[in-house]
Amino acid sequence: MAKKNPELRSTKWFGRQDIYGFIYRSWVKNRGVPQDQFDGRPVIGICNTWSELTPCNTHFRTIAEHVRNGILEAGGFPLEFPVMSLGETLLRPTAMLYRNLASMDVEESIRGNPIDGVVLLMGCDKTTPSLVMGAASANLPTIGVSGGPMLSGKYRGTDIGSGTNVWSMSEDLRAGKISLDEFHEAESCMHRSHGHCMTMGTASTMASMVEALGVGMPGNAAIPAVDARRNVLARAAGRRIVDLVREKVTLSRVLTRAAFENAIRVNAAIGGSTNAVIHLIAIARRTGVDLKLEDFDRLGRGVHCLVNLMPSGQYLMEDFYYAGGLPAVIRELGANGLLHRNALTVNGKSIWENNKSAPCWNRKVIFPFRKPFKKNSGIAVLRGNLCPDGAIIKPSAATPRLMKHKGRAVVFENIEDFHRRIDDPRLVIDKSCVMVLKNCGPRGYPGMAEVGNMPLPPKLLKRGVTDMVRVSDARMSGTAYGTVVLHVAPEAAAGGALVLVENGDAIELDVAKRRLQLLVPEEELARRRERWKQPQPPLDRGYWRLYFEHVLQANDGADLDFLVGKSGAFVPRDNH
Ligand code: FES
Repeated sequence: MAKKNPELRSTKWFGRQDIYGFIYRSWVKNRGVPQDQFDGRPVIGICNTWSELTPCNTHFRTIAEHVRNGILEAGGFPLEFPVMSLGETLLRPTAMLYRNLASMDVEESIRGNPIDGVVLLMGCDKTTPSLVMGAASANLPTIGVSGGPMLSGKYRGTDIGSGTNVWSMSEDLRAGKISLDEFHEAESCMHRSHGHCMTMGTASTMASMVEALGVGMPGNAAIPAVDARRNVLARAAGRRIVDLVREKVTLSRVLTRAAFENAIRVNAAIGGSTNAVIHLIAIARRTGVDLKLEDFDRLGRGVHCLVNLMPSGQYLMEDFYYAGGLPAVIRELGANGLLHRNALTVNGKSIWENNKSAPCWNRKVIFPFRKPFKKNSGIAVLRGNLCPDGAIIKPSAATPRLMKHKGRAVVFENIEDFHRRIDDPRLVIDKSCVMVLKNCGPRGYPGMAEVGNMPLPPKLLKRGVTDMVRVSDARMSGTAYGTVVLHVAPEAAAGGALVLVENGDAIELDVAKRRLQLLVPEEELARRRERWKQPQPPLDRGYWRLYFEHVLQANDGADLDFLVGKSGAFVPRDNH
């Protein structure tokens, strides 16, 4: 029997012997909780993003049961609670609009309830950063458990990957290379099990970040959702969180600058999603670590991509797990001086203790550092008059010959303008042009949609053009690829120079020099700026308005300005 612990938050609810204690205990007893469970054992919240509107997280009730069993085995008191769940495929205008709202839900749900520690269940893209951001601001002992990737897609004898093959197949359909029937058949073949996208897209990237930050248990990133070992990991997390509470290891002791620097390098080594840049900055600033865009460029230099996974490569997350998963990658970094080895992880060991002996079973999937899959794979941070506060490009997903390129701008004022004109054979565009998309940033879309990887015009696709330089203030799906400049800051809707670009302007990209320039004289830009009008909020009330008025730019993590930082888990006053 666990001993009474007056230091626990939950004691301020369940340890009371007055009318409040009656109220706090009695209603919880309505599902059969016995009196002796209120004896001062750690109360663990299981923060669940299960939702049928988030297809990637629909197995989370099962995972929650395994976490619950682990908590009970370790002498804890599990209480599961739902929070806003963000489904990438169904939620419009973009799940990213709601990441900060969901993080508020998480933070306040933790703080307002009798919880001593929390296990976060997350899978689909935005469910991971929203939960970690909220938990970081509440700062209790916390373990992240990812739902795991789906099994590999299988289509006519070949492997197909979430997202990555959606983009390629939709281009093939538009170019007339495949039929509509084939397109429909592929839909059924691609997502055939529980789990999140099984490419190294944003979900797999963020699950890897959770492991690299030390917030998840070793192996968290890659165990397939339907592999029994995913449930074993969930159970182990349930057992461990109880001890983490007893050891008083709060999340901020894990989320140190060293942990973020490890995560940045791991992201480069896995060819991870560009979305990790925004999410890691937002998470870091919740916990007081001032992560900057340049940290990604600086720390990623000299890091090579070690994994041959889509969208940068050939294989899928299932193959990655069988090859050794993230531990094998972390070992390579640690052995080559690219890891803060002493960074603490939630299992109580350092990241190096966890991974120093990790095996690799397949060198076609996980490459050694000295003979990498792709060289220099970090995120490149661009500056210039078109992006004075920064923009990013993922060189490992880009075409090498386009990394230094000058071309004529073909401008789309917003995403509707793009859809209206891109298929028009009369569009004046050739493969040397630079496609520019405006008004898709945090305020402009709103929510900074994943539309930066604009599909190419069909007339060029039919001529065999496979890539062009594209520039926008949008994000890009982690499963996408191409020579795509993203996250231009300030965005067009905030009056950034992007809003001033006109058809026919020359734009110069030089990734080696980290430059993105709009080659238009300053006087002309000043004239154009005089004509610009500040946009109005897309809705004049509710969350959309709050978001529009308070969202930060991409280089600052696109958090709401008043959410940056943490308030901790103080116990609010009684409720009656
Ligand atoms: Fe959920 Fe890709 S749609 S992870």
